[in-house]
Amino acid sequence: MASHSIFFSVLLVASLIAVASAGSLNENFDITWGDGRAQFLNNGQLLSLTLDKTSGSGFQSKNEYLFGKIDMQIKLVPGNSAGTVTAYYLSSEGPTHDEIDFEFLGNVTGQPYTLHTNVFSQGKGGREQQFRLWFDPTTDFHTYSILWNPQRIVFSVDGTPIREFRNLESMGIPFPKNQPMRIYSSLWDAEDWATQGGRIKTDWSKAPFKASYRNFNADACVSRNGRSSCTSASPWMNQQLDATGQSRMRWVQKNYMIYNYCTDLQRFPQGLPKECTVTLS
Ligand SMILES: *[C@@H]1O[C@H](CO)[C@@H](O)[C@H](O)[C@H]1NC(C)=O
Repeated sequence: MASHSIFFSVLLVASLIAVASAGSLNENFDITWGDGRAQFLNNGQLLSLTLDKTSGSGFQSKNEYLFGKIDMQIKLVPGNSAGTVTAYYLSSEGPTHDEIDFEFLGNVTGQPYTLHTNVFSQGKGGREQQFRLWFDPTTDFHTYSILWNPQRIVFSVDGTPIREFRNLESMGIPFPKNQPMRIYSSLWDAEDWATQGGRIKTDWSKAPFKASYRNFNADACVSRNGRSSCTSASPWMNQQLDATGQSRMRWVQKNYMIYNYCTDLQRFPQGLPKECTVTLS
């Protein structure tokens, strides 16, 4: 009897965690701008952002998070998406904010998107790394994930790690760990710079442009009134890249990385940022 009830409470706890961490999009997000261009569909299981000549659109999470493992599936603007940018990021507020960015820069039909990433800590960014994807991100949904714990930030695509930003506070480099962040996403026009350095403009005859979101999952610590509470026992709090993860990441960085601030000697004639000496070694 006793073992039955233990079994039952394990099941109960497991289902509570599932409920707490994976909600429909309309439970977890508010549409913040775009005057009707952003919409929840299918009972909140799907969210779409659109962009036309007048405006883009965007949403943000209801919750603020302090650490977590956060997944979102996104299907990007298909066809001629040149000039469009789909931004999906975490950010805190204020002048010394922290930020973890995915940005998808569109392209003309048949040419590859650029996945742009960046990390800001205490207001300082400038840590751009850009990638190609190993699939067409417009024909289907793919999962873009951020693992954020006190030791590291890992960006993953369909479970493959593409970038790690480690806590190097011991070297005097600030790491995002005190400021809760909200999740934001927006679809907007950046024809002045996004595609091939701004040479290719947005083709408004193809508007409205549309990006879609589904299967949001945040196994995360939610911050409220200065207190943080987590949706699970958080094994990800100490998670690091295992050997497989590291070799997958090396594969991506070798074959799909197209820009790395850590190798841009022209940009940093006085010497590369300190964290780069570690990343390279
Ligand atoms: C678009 O495609 C061109 C040609 O393949 C490429 O040089 C460029 O980096 C791509 N991405 C963007 C955002 O311009």
